[in-house]
Amino acid sequence: GLMLPYSGAFAPLGVAIENGVRMAINEQGGKLAGREIEWFKVDDESDPSKGIENANKLVQRDKVDVLIGTVHSGVQMGIQRVARDSGVLSLIPNAGVHAATRSLCAPNVFRTSFSNSQPTLALGQTMVNKGHKRAVWITWKYAAGDEAFEGFKESYTKAGGTIIKELGLPFPNVEFQALLTEIAALKPDAVACFFAGPSGAKFMKDFAAAGLKGKIALYGSGFLTEGLLDDELAPSAQGIMTTLHYSASLASKRNDAFRLAYAKTYKMQPDVFAVQGYDAGLLLLQGAAAVNGDLSNKKALYAAMEGAVIDSPRGKWTMSKAHNPVQDMYLRVVQGKENKVLGVAAKALSDSGAGCKLV
Ligand code: PHB
Repeated sequence: GLMLPYSGAFAPLGVAIENGVRMAINEQGGKLAGREIEWFKVDDESDPSKGIENANKLVQRDKVDVLIGTVHSGVQMGIQRVARDSGVLSLIPNAGVHAATRSLCAPNVFRTSFSNSQPTLALGQTMVNKGHKRAVWITWKYAAGDEAFEGFKESYTKAGGTIIKELGLPFPNVEFQALLTEIAALKPDAVACFFAGPSGAKFMKDFAAAGLKGKIALYGSGFLTEGLLDDELAPSAQGIMTTLHYSASLASKRNDAFRLAYAKTYKMQPDVFAVQGYDAGLLLLQGAAAVNGDLSNKKALYAAMEGAVIDSPRGKWTMSKAHNPVQDMYLRVVQGKENKVLGVAAKALSDSGAGCKLV
């Protein structure tokens, strides 16, 4: 069962994730350890109020053995509830909500993406190194933005930076004007942010149109620029630095092969969301292989998934005890239409898993 956003602010992310999942499985003959797969899909619209109901469409109505979803942290809380109540195997291909692999972690829930604070934990030191010591933070006010802020606050203040103001707007609002006016008046050295999907492109364009580009350095978790850099956006995005667990420009044979195959199959370029979906497919394949396709053999299935080493286009990663990726975070800068990799900003970064009983 795929529970993903196919409409709303995160629709392209849902499509990329599904493409990635299917590509990994199709590379292995389209089966799970020799067993046929029946697919079910639900559009969750990134609407948290329908999270439990939508997850139950897959779990209770369609009786899926595996639920893959979703993007939005609020919707994920609904899936987490259903996964914990039903025991269905749940793979999280994006949503970074801390609770899923901290206080509400579960033996049957595995994340193949990141925790919300991971990318921004890698951001603060670079900003201070660049001499940007007074920053404004801006985001959508919901779990993903608030928890990205936690990572930013920890890394930036530890490196000696000062956060002079936190700004926010409700998801999926994109009326940035009043907040950009406030930023202009505050005159920080830098702005750091969490936005994702096509709305991120609007934020970068509005930031430039407000006359802030070139005056105030703009940073973000890498979702800001991910999958968005085209001819129209490029002028507004040049020089923006971000941290993320992937970049299209990562130089490795694994990444090259993945990108070529994805572009050929789907006639579009893969981004971090496609990679996270692909890795969910790889994880499921590894688990299924270990139990010869018998997904009811949960003890052995989960043990195999816990011990998995995922040979990802992002680089190899392993699963933490709380079931979240232990992975490198890359520092990237926009050059042309590329997120050029400048180096590793945080090596083998793990989420704390605080409060998880599996730890
Ligand atoms: C989230 O809601 O957890 C979320 C959504 C989009 C992203 C990252 C995190 O790119």
